[in-house]
Amino acid sequence: MSLLLAMPGNGALGRAIAQHAGADYADVEARPFPDGESYVRLPTDVKDRDVDLLCTLARPDAQFLSLAFAAQTARQLGARSIRLIAPYLAYMRQDVRFHPGEAVSAQCFAQLLSQLVDAVLTVDPHLHRISSLTEVFSVPARAVSAAPLMGEWIKRSVLNPVIIGPDRESEQWASVVARAAEAPYAVLSKTRRDDRGVLVEAPDLSRWMGCKPVLVDDIASTGGTVVEAAEKLTGLGFSKPVCVVVHALCNGEAETRIRAATDAFVSADTIPHPSNAIGVAHLIADAAMAT
Ligand code: R5P
Repeated sequence: MSLLLAMPGNGALGRAIAQHAGADYADVEARPFPDGESYVRLPTDVKDRDVDLLCTLARPDAQFLSLAFAAQTARQLGARSIRLIAPYLAYMRQDVRFHPGEAVSAQCFAQLLSQLVDAVLTVDPHLHRISSLTEVFSVPARAVSAAPLMGEWIKRSVLNPVIIGPDRESEQWASVVARAAEAPYAVLSKTRRDDRGVLVEAPDLSRWMGCKPVLVDDIASTGGTVVEAAEKLTGLGFSKPVCVVVHALCNGEAETRIRAATDAFVSADTIPHPSNAIGVAHLIADAAMAT
């Protein structure tokens, strides 16, 4: 890592990553013109530099064009290499054509990014039916995981925890979190009814009834998954769970709903959010320096 350029809204994490990595740092200037088009300016000379563009993609449709302009401009101005650091990588959940004619947006988006940059680094992408980023990217794409950091936070902060994943997909995070937290874990099962509604069922959890449930997931978007899982647990007689997620997308009323259904709500700082309590700057900096 030689020069880290942060897209708007990525400054706090960007400065922390650059400090860990000993890299130069600057903010990309981007703003809308009065007609809604995007103005982008690179703030420093990129000629012959290895450039890391930092852009968490929590609002991808609004962010993508500025990011594309920044990457293309860095290329035109002679950057030696351009890597995208996307702490949250968008569009990974639509990973299959569920209905005829649907866009498999995980593939489409990864291909668009592959045309812009030479490599991608991200944190806990939502890999479900896609088992590896290399299936959708045509440039080197690497993921690091915040799960061990989540487990360490739980070990420091929660007495006698039992880690609960809200659905079978979450076992990949729940098991790693549990190992780091030195706690047992279980996973619930979830049926998605529509974009916002889910139905959650639980196996027999009675042997952990004396423990503090800690719900862990990769993403909180509408909050529906976490809220349904929390209500299922309290309905079974557990105390309100603590909720720990990697990416607090938190659309609409999600944060309010999650805070009402849980004892505490914390997240990694891959997306700036009031729930951020787990810093990933050193995780990203170490991975960026290793490749
Ligand atoms: C999906 O399977 C993910 O792991 C999350 O559980 C999901 O994206 C959360 O979405 P929401 O907060 O809208 O329920």
